[in-house]
This record gives sequence, structure tokens and C-alpha cells, in this order.
Amino acid sequence: MSGLYKLPREERIRLVSEFASLADGQRKLLLSDSPLKFDAADRMSENAVGMHGLPFSVATNFIVNGKEAIVPMAIEEPSVVAAASNGAKLCRDTGGFSASADPPIMIGQVQLVGCKDAEAAAKRLDERKEEALAAAAPFAENIAKYGGGLRGFAARVIGTPRGKMVVAEFHIDVRDSMGANTINTILEGAAPEIERISGDGKARLRILSNLAVARLARATAIWKKETIGAEAVEGVLDAWAFAEGDIFRAATHNKGIMNGIDAVALATGNDWRAVEAGAHAYASMGGRYRPLTRFKRLPNGDLHGEIELPLAVGILGGATRSLPMAQAALSILGAQSSGELASLMASVGLAQNFAALRALSTEGIQKGHMALHAKNVALAAGASGAVADDIAEKMAKEKDITASRAGELLAEHQKRKKPR
Ligand code: MEV
Repeated sequence: MSGLYKLPREERIRLVSEFASLADGQRKLLLSDSPLKFDAADRMSENAVGMHGLPFSVATNFIVNGKEAIVPMAIEEPSVVAAASNGAKLCRDTGGFSASADPPIMIGQVQLVGCKDAEAAAKRLDERKEEALAAAAPFAENIAKYGGGLRGFAARVIGTPRGKMVVAEFHIDVRDSMGANTINTILEGAAPEIERISGDGKARLRILSNLAVARLARATAIWKKETIGAEAVEGVLDAWAFAEGDIFRAATHNKGIMNGIDAVALATGNDWRAVEAGAHAYASMGGRYRPLTRFKRLPNGDLHGEIELPLAVGILGGATRSLPMAQAALSILGAQSSGELASLMASVGLAQNFAALRALSTEGIQKGHMALHAKNVALAAGASGAVADDIAEKMAKEKDITASRAGELLAEHQKRKKPR
């Protein structure tokens, strides 16, 4: 199928449908033009054939830095939005979340290979830092207009399976964008001069680092012992300690945090893969993969939670602008800067984690989860509206939440409905 991208949409769909023997209904699904016009989709990605939909929800009850917020989330997993809203609700009586974000400074890397003396090359680059920054400056003019731009430069030597290499790193303030395009443009522009200054280095990769350690966001919150109960305080502390002590648990602990953060990233048109990569690399920066949150008991018995992670997200540029739903999400959220968005996202991650640990360490999560899962199974079997609710409730009661049972119950319902 080479050159698929050159064909009109209908032809692409015909070829894919034929190849995969798609049912008529599936083929028609691909023709949907909502909420994104196909032209826009076709410009965003290659070989586009249709649109993919996810539920667009809002988490409620958030107070962040004294301001009420409604948080848009795009996610297919049941319970995530409910958990975030619940975690936020339970700390409203202590004022919600206090959150902050570092200035939006990203790291861009130029890899230099082939240096006969890597240490000497790195030293040369460091000594001639001003020259390196001057070489990059013309490519940073656009972001400088918005108050951002180059903030620093340093070179270091790394050992690799192919010998020593030099990494020349620019620190770049990308203001309210995520920044990938800004950074990569600067790096590709400056690389020839970086090669020259290094003496004999050859620039290979010129790309941002997703481990945005200079762009961290943090949030804290307090859950009162009287509000959540002394048992929940102990439960959350035990659950957190489990993650601190065991990498297998830490992975799942952090996955729960990212359930919330990714959903906001997706809703607002941000690159959630970049956020994921940064979060997990940051979680292992101390040489051991650890939880991204920390919990402690305060002297009065209340539970204190905190989170810190890199959050390279923006409110301008890229898909935040071209996806109409992302624009709607940003309007709902009302974040005025990338830092404000990152602060909100950190708060969502903490709320999510608190709610998951509280549920897991007390009643378990399956009860709530299965009720929502049952609804999905009922919908997938073809039920809708109140009928889907009835079928879901019945399956949950019978503890038989399967496609076949949903089908049987739907058939029974249809039989009952038929006029005799
Ligand atoms: C499920 O998507 C997320 C949880 O597993 C998170 C956790 O275990 O902390 C519930």
C-alpha cells in the first residue's frame, strides 16, 4: 500500500476495508467527521482514514491554589474520573491543593561522536559557552519574542557501548508551549557551530530530552483524619510504603497517578507520551524506580500527600491549537500559562493516587469498577439507555459480567418488549 497518503480518503478506506474484510458498520464508522474535520486530521497525521473517539469527561471538586477548577479528562477507563473527583472532594475542607511549577525550561541535546579526546572537546565547548549560545540565538528569535529563549549551555562526557561521547546541552525557556518544535529547531540550527567549537566532534542526534528536570511541577494536599477516617490514613500510608519498598508495586502506583495526568494531557491536546516518558525516567533518577508521590502522617493525625514530576505541557501551539476539543478543554480549565496547567495536572495526579490508595487499602476497587465495567459490557452487547443500566445492574448482582450474559439479558428484554 505504498503511497496510501496520496489517495483520497474514500480510496484509503476502501483499501483498508478490503484488506481487513471490515463489516459495513465498521467501514461507515471510519467515515465519521466528528469532532475533527477530516481535512484537519489528514494534516495532523499520515494515512488518516477516520476519527477516533474517547469519552471527554470532567472531574469536579478541585480547588487548586485557592481557585475552583473543573478538570477535563479524556479517558476510556472506568473509575478514573470518579476517583479524581473523590480525592479532590475529600481535601476541600483543608483548602484543596497547593501547587506550583518551575519556569518552563527544557533541555535540548546535541550528541557529538568521533572526538579523539572527549574530555578536551567538552572542556572547549564549556569554555566557549558564549559562542555556542550565540550560534543558537538566531534560531531562538521566535520564542524570545514571547519572553522565552536560551537560558544556558553546558557540555559533558558520557560513556556508551560505542565509546565516549560528548553531550552538548542547551537550556531553553519555551514559555507556554510544550516546546518540542522550538527546541529541535534551535538544536538543528546550532549543531554545525557546536561541531566546529568541539574541534573534531560530529553532531548526530539533535533532540530535546523528555526528562524535563528543570520543568518540575509539584502539589501537596492534606486529608483530615476526621474526614477520611483513621483507618484510611493508615491504609494510604501502608500502600505508599509498599510502593516505596517494591518496584513491582511502584510501577502500578505510578500508573494510577498517570491515569489522571495522561487524561488531562490527552484532553488538552498535549503529548502524553512525552509526559509519561519524563515521569517514569524521573521516578528512577535516584538509581531506583520509586513512587512519584509521598505520604506522611502529620502530628495531629491528618494525612499529608505530595507529588513532584516533570510536566512538559503547553497551552499554545501543536495539537492544543488544532484540536477543537483541546481548545474546549483549555477553556474549561482556564489555565493562563503552561505552569498553571502543569500545577493542575500535578494536583490531579495526587488526587488520583490518594483515591486509588484509599480504595485499595480499605474496601478494594472492584465494587465500583465492576459496576462501570458492567455498563460497558452491556453497551457493547448493543443495549442502550435505561436498558443498559438494568442489564449492568443485573450482571453486577449475579457477578456474571460477560458479553454472553449481556447478550442473553438483552434478548430477554427484546422478547418481553415484542407485542404478542
Ligand atoms: C488502575 O488503572 C490504577 C490502579 O491500579 C492504581 C493503583 O494500584 O494505585 C488502581
